[in-house]
Parts: sequence; structure tokens; C-alpha cells
Amino acid sequence: MKKNVVFWIGVKNKKYSDKYGGWEWLDISKKTWQYWCDKNDVLFVPFETPIEEDLIKFRINWQKALFVFDELKRLNVEYNQIFLVDGMNMVKWNAPNIFNLTENKFVGWRDIDNLNWVYQSKIGYKKFFDDFELDLTKYISSGLIIFNESHKSFFDSFKELYYNKTDELVELQDKLVKKGTEQTPLNYWLQINNVDIKTDLPLSWKFTHMHRKELYGYNWQLNNSKTPYFIKYGNVWNFSGFAKDKRTEIMSNVWNMVGHNYTPSPLKHTIDTVNHKNTYKNSTSRKFKIDLFEYLKDKSIDNVIEFGCCQGDTTKILSLISDKVYASDISPENIEIAKDKCIGCENVLFEIKDINTDWEYPQPSLVYLDALHDYNGIINGLNRVKSTYPNSIIVMDDYGHEMNTVKPIIEDLLKSKEIKVLSWIGEDKGFMAANGKKFIDKEGLIFKFLL
Ligand SMILES: C[S@@+](CC[C@H](N)C(=O)[O-])C[C@H]1O[C@@H](n2cnc3c(N)ncnc32)[C@H](O)[C@@H]1O
Repeated sequence: MKKNVVFWIGVKNKKYSDKYGGWEWLDISKKTWQYWCDKNDVLFVPFETPIEEDLIKFRINWQKALFVFDELKRLNVEYNQIFLVDGMNMVKWNAPNIFNLTENKFVGWRDIDNLNWVYQSKIGYKKFFDDFELDLTKYISSGLIIFNESHKSFFDSFKELYYNKTDELVELQDKLVKKGTEQTPLNYWLQINNVDIKTDLPLSWKFTHMHRKELYGYNWQLNNSKTPYFIKYGNVWNFSGFAKDKRTEIMSNVWNMVGHNYTPSPLKHTIDTVNHKNTYKNSTSRKFKIDLFEYLKDKSIDNVIEFGCCQGDTTKILSLISDKVYASDISPENIEIAKDKCIGCENVLFEIKDINTDWEYPQPSLVYLDALHDYNGIINGLNRVKSTYPNSIIVMDDYGHEMNTVKPIIEDLLKSKEIKVLSWIGEDKGFMAANGKKFIDKEGLIFKFLL
């Protein structure tokens, strides 16, 4: 299945270890991106071993742009969007999923920290690019860019350019211009090739030169919190613009302050042990389970009743965020499989049961209703849940299923103001299940009855 990818650059070149004050800062950056990727169902692909061994002719900054697509192919990665991230960046633990903001375009952030440097760099490469007039209002940093398969031919041609003119470019880079590596040539090539670049994502995604912007400080006038601005307001923190050999020290200090937020969630260990909708049509999607977990993880959930637990795939997630799960299904075969799958989940009680019989459960914080799929069955089920457990949180999937039974019922309940949606969860319209059927709307929702 295609996934969004973070292509993270973290080559530790022993030769430059002193210059950079060691490479521990790369380990810190890596931990943050790994955590963020796990949390957002994004594939983390580290680029740690150079493709070309001659690192003078092929600086790592060049290699990341030249070989990103080759690497993904070599690793058999099926990708949607690719976020190329230099290893001097840390991502905040709860930064939202940036891939939802890109409109599937080439995304970059303007480089406006040192305008004289940028200008000198532009002038330095101008002749090489046949006097092309580079528009500096579109000039972006190359250490944080997002692109997708439609940009592969662009990167292929950039690679061709470099291999055709390696010596010339290396001379400009190391002797003549001495302003950066691949960044300015990449900007020329983007503009020469008319690549539509989205540059309007918030700067919080690229907090650079933070010391110069007082982002390490806090609001001493209000004095109600000493949390530095960059932690409060930034999503990606870039540690550059100061002496390179101080990077490990500075990033270690930040890690000591915030590292506890990057503890891997128990979901990480569970999510890969269950089925998801793209391989087993009866279950929910991976995203549905992640969203459900994220919504519930900080809430106090005692009892959960799950009607139609099927083979225990979502049950296993529910067991992580509640004290007790009462999971039932009409099918003895499914219950057998579910029990096997949930071995070790001591707080789950499985039962073969028809939802249409009597219920005897302690008051639940949450009811997950997924046993009945015909219009009348769902209405009856919901009415019974409402009269028996009026205060419980209700979870339903199949809202966006093309059979279109859950959706009209929910729409009616919303219209008559009988329910309040707490969160829409799961995959979006267009997602394809294992049986080839496509969702016509959002997969599911979490709601409450309004009394
Ligand atoms: C779509 S599956 C549920 C998938 C499950 N929620 C998950 O996340 O993996 C629906 C389940 O409802 C069960 N079912 C159907 N009619 C039922 C009934 N009357 N009472 C209880 N379970 C029923 C089916 O056996 C099936 O396992």
C-alpha cells in the first residue's frame, strides 16, 4: 500500500565529526522523526549511507536530491508524498500530519534568513544557468521540501544535469561561489522547469535561526509559562545558523527538555499485529484504529462494549485504552480467531452473542457498534444503545461505505440534533477496501447522544 514518506538525511561522515562536534545530534533528530512517523502512519526512510563514495564530488546535499527516487525504488517503497528532511531538524511530538496540507504540490519554505547570502548565491550561479533571472520571492530552502511521484522526472533531469556538469558545479560550489551546495542550483532548476511551488505553509514548519528571532526565549512579561516560544509554536525546529560544533550541545539540551514526549505509544507494538481494511474488508482501516486510539488515549475509559467484534482487530486497540472490553460476535469462528489474536489482552472478555438478544453489561464509557449493517438493524441497535447507555461515547464505522446505510441515519440524527459528533475518524472518500469497494465518504465517527 502506498504511504507518505519522510526521507530523512543522516549520513555520519567520520571526516567531519570534529567540525560538527560529533554526530549525536543526528540521533536526536532521528528519534523525533521516527516517533512522528509512527504516530502519523508515515513511513520513515533514513538516508544514512551515501550512494556515491566520493563525498567531495558528491556532497551529501547533492546525493539526497539526486538519489531520493533511486533509494525508494531500491527499498521497494510504494510512496505517495515524500518529505525530504535534513537531519538538523527536530519535529515536535504532536505536530499535525503535514501531508494533509500540501494540496499534493511541491512544497518548500522561503529562505529569508540571510538575504545577502541568498543574493550572492543567485548571482554566483546565474551564468551557469544561462543568465536565467531567478525570482528570489520563490527561493526556498532545500533542507525541508515535499514532493511526489509527479516530480520524479524533474529530479531525474536534475540528476542528469549534475552528472553532465559535475566538475563545473563542484568548482562553483567549492571555489567560486562558495554559497551552499545544491540549494541554489535546485532553485534555478525548479524555476527553469516551471515547477509549481507551494510556499505558503506556515513558518512554524521551518523555525530557522531561532536564536536570532528570540524563539529560545519565553514571554517574560506575562511570565505565566517558561516554555520557550519555539516549543510552544513551532512544528519543526531547525538547528543551524550558529557554530556547527555547538549543535549536539544545543539539541541535547532541547531533548532533555522535551524528550519524554517521544515515548513510543503502545499502539506502535499492536497496530501491526492486526488486520486492516486494505487487506481484510471486514475490519476497519489502519487509520481508523490510529485515530480511535489517539482520540481516546488521554480519556478515562473504563468499560467498552463492542458489538460485532469480528476477528478482534479493533478490539485489540480498544483493549489498550480501556479497563475492560466486552467484545461479542454472532459468529463462533470469528470469536475463536479473535481470542487467538488477543492472547495476552487480559482485559478483553469475548462472547458469542447475537446483538438482538438481551444485554447485561456494566455501564460503559464507550460502545462500538458494528454488528448490524441494514438500515432497520442499525436504527434498532442505536435506539437500544441510546435508551440503555445514553451517556456513553458511541463509535461507528461504515459511515462512508457505499451500501450507504450508516450515513443517512447519522445525517438524520445530526439534522434532528440528537447527536453531537466528537470526531470524524478513519480513511476518507476514495479509499479502497480489500474487496475493491471505494468509500463514498469518511470511514467513521465518534459521537454522543444529546439528551
Ligand atoms: C464488519 S464486521 C466487524 C468488524 C470489526 N468491527 C473490526 O473492526 O474488525 C461485522 C461483524 O458483525 C457480526 N454480526 C453480524 N450480525 C450480528 C449479530 N446479529 N449479532 C452480533 N454480531 C453480528 C459478523 O459476524 C461480523 O463479524
